[in-house]
Formats: sequence, C-alpha cells, structure tokens
Amino acid sequence: MITINNKTIHLQGRDISYVMTVGEHGDLLHYHFGKKLGDREFSVPMSYNVWSAYAPEGYTLENVPQEYPSYGYADLRPGAYTVENTGGNEVSQLKFKSVRTERGAAEIKGMPCLRESSCTGEDHGAETVYVTLADEAAGIEAELAYTVFDRFNIIARSVVIKNISDKPVVLKSVYSACLELDANERDIIYLPGSWAGERQPERCRVHRGMKLDISNERGGSGHNMNPFVIAAEKGADEEHGEAFSMSLVYSGNHSTLVSCASDCTLRLMQGINPRGFESVLEPGESFAAPQSIICYSQNGFGGISRELSRLYREHLCPPQYSMKERPILINNWEATYFDFTEDKLVEIAEKAKEAGMELFVMDDGWFGARNNDDKGLGDWTVTRKKLPSGLKGLSERINKLGMKFGLWIEPEMVNPDSELYRAHPDWAIHVSGRKPAESRQQLILDITKPEVREYIIESIKKVLSEGNIEYVKWDMNRPMTDMPYPGYNHRYTLGLYEIADALTKAFPNILFEGCAGGGGRFDPGMLYYYPQIWASDNSDAVARLKIQYGTSMGYPVSAISAHVTAVPNHQNGRVTPLKTRADVAFAGVFGYELDITKMDDEGFEMIKRQVEFAKRTRKLMLEGDFYRLQSPFESNYCAWEAASQDGREVFLMCCKILSDNGIADRRVRLLGIDEGAVYKDDEGKLYYGDELANRGIMPEYEKRDFAAVIMHLTKCE
Ligand code: GLA
Repeated sequence: MITINNKTIHLQGRDISYVMTVGEHGDLLHYHFGKKLGDREFSVPMSYNVWSAYAPEGYTLENVPQEYPSYGYADLRPGAYTVENTGGNEVSQLKFKSVRTERGAAEIKGMPCLRESSCTGEDHGAETVYVTLADEAAGIEAELAYTVFDRFNIIARSVVIKNISDKPVVLKSVYSACLELDANERDIIYLPGSWAGERQPERCRVHRGMKLDISNERGGSGHNMNPFVIAAEKGADEEHGEAFSMSLVYSGNHSTLVSCASDCTLRLMQGINPRGFESVLEPGESFAAPQSIICYSQNGFGGISRELSRLYREHLCPPQYSMKERPILINNWEATYFDFTEDKLVEIAEKAKEAGMELFVMDDGWFGARNNDDKGLGDWTVTRKKLPSGLKGLSERINKLGMKFGLWIEPEMVNPDSELYRAHPDWAIHVSGRKPAESRQQLILDITKPEVREYIIESIKKVLSEGNIEYVKWDMNRPMTDMPYPGYNHRYTLGLYEIADALTKAFPNILFEGCAGGGGRFDPGMLYYYPQIWASDNSDAVARLKIQYGTSMGYPVSAISAHVTAVPNHQNGRVTPLKTRADVAFAGVFGYELDITKMDDEGFEMIKRQVEFAKRTRKLMLEGDFYRLQSPFESNYCAWEAASQDGREVFLMCCKILSDNGIADRRVRLLGIDEGAVYKDDEGKLYYGDELANRGIMPEYEKRDFAAVIMHLTKCE
C-alpha cells in the first residue's frame, strides 16, 4: 500500500515501511526503511543540519539521509549520479518536482525486472510510486520508481534520467538506488569468488571514512563478484539481527558502493558500474537504469534469503517454469567432453532412463567443426559426422526412450577459426587498430549491432526448430575485453536481453538454463529469462558445499543447478562418496554429469535410489524455505535444511567434511518446523518436533572424510 500525506510518501509491504518526505528546501529525504509503521502523519520531523562549515542556501545535506543524492553542492559525499556540465564540472542538485502513484509494478524498457503478477496467479497488490526530481541548471530530470508488494518485505527501485535541456547531457554514472542507514556498527556481507569457486561469502566491518566498491567490471555480472550485498548490524547472524540487502537485476558490470561517512552513517548505492560507463543524452532523451531490489529482515541473513527466494520464484523467474518441478537430467559434458558419437549419447541416455532420469542434455561439440574448444563457435549447424541423423533424428531417439532432449549453445561467441568469423571478422568486439584478446580461443560477438543480434536469433531459432528440443543450456565462457567505447558494456547487456527475450518468447515451452563458464552470470537479470543457472563448473561435493551455501544467501535453491559428477573430481581431483555428492546436490536442481554406462552395479543401484529420492523431494526444494544451519566457512561441518512453508515436510543435509575424533560432533537444530508435531522419516522412525527444534539431532556420520547424512521428514497427521 502507498499513501501520500503532505509530501510524505509511505510504502507498506508485509511487515515493512519505507518512508520518504520532501524537506522544506525541496530535497527528497529518506525517513525510514525497516519495521512497519502506522499509516499516519509522523511525529518525528526530518530536520536539515545547519552546523556544517558550508551551507549553500542556508542548509546542508551533508548529514541528512536522502533518496537520490546529488554531488557537489549541498552534499560532498558520493552522489547517486554524475552529469558532466558545460565546462566539465559535475555539480548538481536535484529538487522535488512531482509525485504520482500507479497500481502495478514498474517496468523498465529493454530490461528485466520484477513481474507484476505472481506465477501462482495470486494478486500481491503491487503498487508503484514515481517521484520526479529535477535540476534545471544541469538540464536533467530523474524519475525514481519504487514498487512495493503487499505480500513482500522488499522495495524494487529504479530510475530514469531525462535530458530536459536543449543540448546534449553527458551522464557519467547512474546508480539505481541509494540506501541510507543510521550510524551504527555494521558489517557488509558480500559474495566474491572466482571460476570454480563462485559466491564465497565474506564479511567485514565498515568503519568511519571507509569506502568499499563491491563491483565487477569483467563484462558479465561475473564469477568475481555477485551483485548482491547485505548490510547487517553488528552481531547479526543467520537467524538474528537486523539486515538490509540490495540485489541488482542486471547482468553487466555492476557496483554497490558502500561509504561510511565521518559521522558513521552508511550510504549504500547500487547500479551500473560507473567505470567505463557513459551515456550521452540528446535533448528529450532518457536513460533507464536497471532495477535494484532492497530487502529488510529482522531475522538475519536467513530472513533475507527466504524473502528473496519467494520473491524471485513468484515475481522474477519465467512464470511457466518457476514453480514447476524440473526434470532430472543427465548431461554428457564430463562423460565425453567433445569426443562423442550419436550412439554413445543414446547409450548414456538409455542407462540414465533406466535409472529414472527424465532429460538428456547434449553439451558442447555438436556443431560446426567443434571437436575442441578452439573452433566452430558461431557456426550453428549440426556436424553430421558425429550426429548422422541430425538434431531431429537424435531427439527422436531420445524421446523414444521416454526422455526429453536438450542441448548446449553459446550464442554470444565466435571462434576466430569458424565460418562465421571468416565471413564477418568485424562482428567480433574489438578496438580498432588492436588485435582483440582471445579467451578460451574465442571472441565475443558485438551484439550491440542489430545485424549480429538478428544472425544469432535466426540461427538459434533454426537450431531449436530442428528437433523436439525441450531444454537449452545457454553458456557464455569468457570475460569481456576490448570494450570499444564508454557505455559499451551496458549496450551489450541490452543486446543480450533483447536476444534472450526473443528466443525465450519464441520457445516458451523450452526450459532454459543459464551458464557462464559455470556460475559467471548468476544474477537476478538472467533469472528473469532462465529459471535455473549452472552454479559452478566445480562439481566436487566439498567445494559445492561452499558454493551452494553462498549462492543460497541471495538466490532460491530452486535456481541453483547442481549435478553429481564422477570421481576423482575433474576440477580438483577430490574423491568423495557417491552418496555425499548426491546429498549435496539434492538442495538444488538435481542432475548427473558422468558416464553412467561405466558405473558398477552398486553405484548404478545407488543412483536409482538417489533419482527416486530427488523426485520425491524436488517439490520441497522448489517451494520450501531454506535454512543454513552450519556454515562450511566457519567449521568442519555444513548443514542446511529445506522446510515446506507449512512445516509439514523437511529435508536436512549435514556434512562432516574431515573425519575427526578429537571433538564431539555438533548437534543440528531444525528450524521452520512445528514443535508440537511428531515427524517420521522415510523408514518410519518417529521424532518429536520440539526435540528436533530445541535439542537437535546428532547426525550419524560414517567414519570417513566427506561423510554426509540426509533426513527426509514428514509430519504425522
Ligand atoms: C562451460 C560450462 C560447462 C560446459 C563447457 C562446454 O565451461 O560451464 O558446463 O558446458 O562450457 O564447453
């Protein structure tokens, strides 16, 4: 609900209030974001601070929380945007102009954002307030949009900057949202990482005067830094304490700038990374910045994760797939790499079908001259040498087994050794006069060019129409170099969204999975098009404990693609038990990526039981709430739990990483369950809810390294 009372704007979500007000000098000031307030005129007035050494118009904004701060006039803290005025100065000051509210959620031209209607069909009362600010001298207007849903504890923010002057305006930076927090001891939790080690949470205290730029400028949202940041009060943990988060619905270079002023107040701003950014607006032209979702929880990081998980499932991911049980797949990549034949693929599929799997995915190597990763990208025609009956014939053979068929593509790329590159060398991103830098022997196609987008859309459409293709893994395997001009990365990102939109709309029944050299583009922007994303090329169970734990902080486990692979693990050589590999992968979109034809009987029988278990629990992973119980970053243990929202069903996974006799194992207390109920596990053993919640269970770990225990409990009626 949104109410406007005497220039005070009050947005109410489920348990939150967001309040802003227009100050006596016409500035849009931030009043409150946190626990819900009553719907009334507020008693504590907003005051400007006049003690500052300078006060351009008799007041200063230096110590005043604002909604969209300007730099260089009444405030010298980092500003939310930068315009370059005539003569090169960057001074600006936005003042309130107008406000209007609309039913429904804000939309952003050409970019993904929260959807107004829930995929469940329920009305969640979306409403948006648009506040227009203007700086006549700089020639700009900023329209700030704030969407609130009755059902959620989030505010979705975005901004459109418009040139209202009669000459071009140079926009040098534009953050999407600003969050001002009171002086308090606060920690920042963020998700840095690397290839094969994505989203490893770090926590640090922000002290007076510190500035942190939690950002990525490697092209996509990146392995190195995820566009998700939490600011939590000192001492907050998984289930306790006040926490605020910001998530950017964007897949290009991003930044969350955290700055702690000399008075200890904290300013967080999230948006497109200003480095390498520029947009020149002609008179009347506008620039739309991506959406930033801010969330508030009084129940620690877990509260944030569960809120965002429900939100993304219901209002972000493609509605036709978001809450639908996903097929259990087998992918041939780690089984065969590029070295396969049609018969070999069918052989794998046959055995996978026998184990109960439902989807066979043919990975890289099926097109052009692609027998290695140094050629063929861009040439989207089937290689008949490997697949004599083409995509049609192969999909028919797979379908005949009773399985769905899916395939891998990497549409944004080109190998210099390809027909496409030989025909259009200028289609690869490059800086004139400089040889473009190769990565994995490939270059990136310049999808800011309409003809390149058209080529990709048409060639991929043709491929996807050639057989009965029901799943696509969309990869992107390198960072972006050679960006030819300022603002390029943003234009590339818009091109990507246009292609993703065209293809997902043309094939609404195909389940798309995102991938970028593993989890290099795991962000809310991509989740708008793909309901699931391959979390990492590292599929070792122990590494996955950390990767999945970290990823689950900002994303639903129903979006985290997790596969059981062969040992020794291809990325780090570790040998973990088959049981542990599956136990860890269950809390995600479950599948396999190994040569199942080579499994011994015991292994095969175990896989059958795992597939059967995944089928029984996948609805819970899709719809349930996720709780992180023990952190693999802090101990030798990792435990997590998925509980249905009504507390009737629970999945628990506990892992003891290294065998150890010196210290007693830790009990695990369950959350989100009915303490008054009795639960039974799959063997019929009974447990009292109050004991599970308050005393906890002692997992019976095998005496070995990497031992995992799972429990599946249902409430007795
Ligand atoms: C990337 C993906 C892998 C696989 C290969 C194929 O690395 O993350 O899963 O698809 O590409 O080249």
